[in-house]
Amino acid sequence: MFLLRAGLAASLASTALAIVNQTSCNGRTYVYEELAGYGTVPSNARDEFGDTLNFGSALALDRSQWKKLSNGSYTGVLWGLPDRGWNTQGTLNFQPRVHKFDILFTPSPEATVENPSAKNLFFTYKETIRFYGPDGTPCTGLDGDATGHLSYPGFPDLPVSTYEGDGFGGPGPGGKRIPVDSEGIVLNDDGSFWISDEYGPYVYRFDASGRMITAIRPPNAIIPMRNGTESFSADSPAYYEGDNPEVIIPSDGPSGRNNNHGFEGLTVSGDGKNLYVLLQAATNQEGGLESQTERYTRLLKYDITIPSKPRYAREFVVPLPLYVDPTAKPSKNPKVAAQSELFHIQNGQFFVLARDGGFGHGQDESLSNYRQIDIFDINSATDIKGNTYDCANCSVASVKGVLKPGITPATYCPFIDMNLNSQLNRFGAHNGGDQDANLLNEKWESIGIVPVDGLIGDDDEWFVFSLSDNDFITQDGYMNGGAFPYSDESGFNLDNQALVFKIKLPDHSRPFDRD
Ligand SMILES: *[C@@H]1O[C@H](CO)[C@@H](O)[C@H](O)[C@H]1NC(C)=O
Ligand SMILES: *[C@@H]1O[C@H](CO)[C@@H](O)[C@H](O)[C@H]1NC(C)=O
Ligand SMILES: *[C@@H]1O[C@H](CO)[C@@H](O)[C@H](O)[C@H]1NC(C)=O
Ligand SMILES: *[C@@H]1O[C@H](CO)[C@@H](O)[C@H](O)[C@H]1NC(C)=O
Repeated sequence: MFLLRAGLAASLASTALAIVNQTSCNGRTYVYEELAGYGTVPSNARDEFGDTLNFGSALALDRSQWKKLSNGSYTGVLWGLPDRGWNTQGTLNFQPRVHKFDILFTPSPEATVENPSAKNLFFTYKETIRFYGPDGTPCTGLDGDATGHLSYPGFPDLPVSTYEGDGFGGPGPGGKRIPVDSEGIVLNDDGSFWISDEYGPYVYRFDASGRMITAIRPPNAIIPMRNGTESFSADSPAYYEGDNPEVIIPSDGPSGRNNNHGFEGLTVSGDGKNLYVLLQAATNQEGGLESQTERYTRLLKYDITIPSKPRYAREFVVPLPLYVDPTAKPSKNPKVAAQSELFHIQNGQFFVLARDGGFGHGQDESLSNYRQIDIFDINSATDIKGNTYDCANCSVASVKGVLKPGITPATYCPFIDMNLNSQLNRFGAHNGGDQDANLLNEKWESIGIVPVDGLIGDDDEWFVFSLSDNDFITQDGYMNGGAFPYSDESGFNLDNQALVFKIKLPDHSRPFDRD
């Protein structure tokens, strides 16, 4: 009896020792058990249209396709959302799209720092769906115009991008397209997708063939303004404008989403009835103009019970985490870790991917100081929806980023540190150190979860997938259906990287329950 108990205690102790970390958020305990997987897709991979393949702005895992095989491997279907096309030297007339992959994942729990596992997550490219406006005109990755919009019956005013030639610097008739800088994805049962964007920032629904069928325009407080009118340009000049781009005045508008700080986070509740969308960081009137003050960002909830008629339902403030940037002066610290992805768990709790910028493969500095999948809880947060905070230039915080009295923000709880070399090294990957292919990329921007049991996650054990956005950086790149070759002037080839974390959700979590 005594021996049995001692044995049990020893095995419990070793289980407890084996975890990487755990956190308790509003009484619910989450455990980061281990890094379970690592995989890559080459930087020069191309899609069925001949364009360089990038997949990391967001991901969606098809729940119905996730299977555990009898030999211990898993197979599934992953949709990866590329960014707005190669854009490190100017935006291009790249048609926004989503890629479908078959995935094969074989956990390697025996991997150690001394005996690392080879890559154990593999992607097989299947197909691509490109996005079109309501009238069938392709959407574009080009910047929005400084003024003006497009109108379609049944849609709110949409941002417009007016371009010359073919939009890549070659001849052509020019035209007007809806600019979409895709950053978040929700996959629906009918094959349609909700896609969140940074230009509007808007949320769009595209049908299974890629045609836009619904658009959500956020409250006026979030709409970017210049000179007192809406102005959707992110001041991201087109590549073809070369050294004399159109000058946008002012570059940063005084209110609304900051340039390239749009709707990075998009997720749906397990019952499919509520869509949540999270701004990357504060709006400009609320501290969004400085990395030290952009802390208080907005989470919007839309009831999508009738998908063609989304209903704005609630709004909350999420306080982003702070970190110290060792390359910045003390007076420029601490900085805010802006967020790149959102995932709804259950009971008012969400995963959020918050990180620093400018550190990693292809950057001047290789060591990232904050790259985490954290948790926030909105159960005690103030619902701020309404004219007091939603009207144009209305604010939940001062321009210096001080939260207004009377607003309780979400509760924020740190969780998975993606940067731990004690885990990354088990798969040959690393944070900091040499600029080699296994140095983590700068931008991690996606979250998807699937059950370890391959069924419904009855034991609360889940795999969390995350992908990086490599900004299409390669020396062997193609845009415009293969007609526009490029080599990024950085000289780097950044593979598309993926990580898988094994976690335990709070007891009896059912993130995909439909009741
Ligand atoms: C398990 O089977 C699948 C399908 O045949 C195969 O692709 C995979 O490599 C196998 N896994 C292992 C660990 O042998
Ligand atoms: C805003 O006003 C300035 C000064 O009149 C002008 O130069 C600029 O083009 C205007 N910007 C927009 C977006 O209209
Ligand atoms: C918007 O709000 C900010 C901060 O309260 C203020 O400084 C600015 O003057 C306002 N702008 C307009 C156009 O009302
Ligand atoms: C575990 O989490 C705590 C709280 O966030 C943090 O201070 C600590 O550094 C973490 N440890 C590891 C190994 O991630």
